[in-house]
Amino acid sequence: MLIRPTRRRMMVTLGAAIVSVPILSAFDELPETDPTGEGPAYKAGAPEKDDLLEPGVAGTPLLMSGRMLSTKGEPLPGALLDIWEAQMDGHYDFTGYTLRGKVRAGKDGRYRFRTVVPKPYNNEMGNRTAHIHVKASAAGHAQVTTELHIKGLARNYTDFAVRPSLEMVLRDHKDGKATEFDFVLRHA
Ligand SMILES: [Fe+2]
Repeated sequence: MLIRPTRRRMMVTLGAAIVSVPILSAFDELPETDPTGEGPAYKAGAPEKDDLLEPGVAGTPLLMSGRMLSTKGEPLPGALLDIWEAQMDGHYDFTGYTLRGKVRAGKDGRYRFRTVVPKPYNNEMGNRTAHIHVKASAAGHAQVTTELHIKGLARNYTDFAVRPSLEMVLRDHKDGKATEFDFVLRHA
């Protein structure tokens, strides 16, 4: 889900001037990113990468970007996404780290990397709609294990893990597709 600024504002008198200031209240907390199960395909120890779309990786390129935020809406510099995704044959790489990697957000809490558009699979791992697994973490915040899905896929309607807050809206991009997704973590 792409978090849009919705903070309400009120007009107050400051000396002779009337200014607009944000209303700060508990209602301004952003919802923490919904968790899902980890599933059977996680493999610890993935290296930090700038890009999961490495030479030889098949599939339609997908540019993913967004923000890592606290529930107060503050950016989380250096936050980490530990990502794992099935290859186009429906299988995960258990011998190496193809389509597995850790991507770190910058000082502004923004992340950006390329991977491939996921595909549904039916195999020993399950019968699943297209998804990308992620563990999102940041210092001082609770880790969230979740997965992202592609909005509009018919397979989503019969998949146990799909929920609206975890759907990516894909758009055309010069090299394939692109999407934006913000992760929200609560203070630990
Ligand atoms: Fe999976």
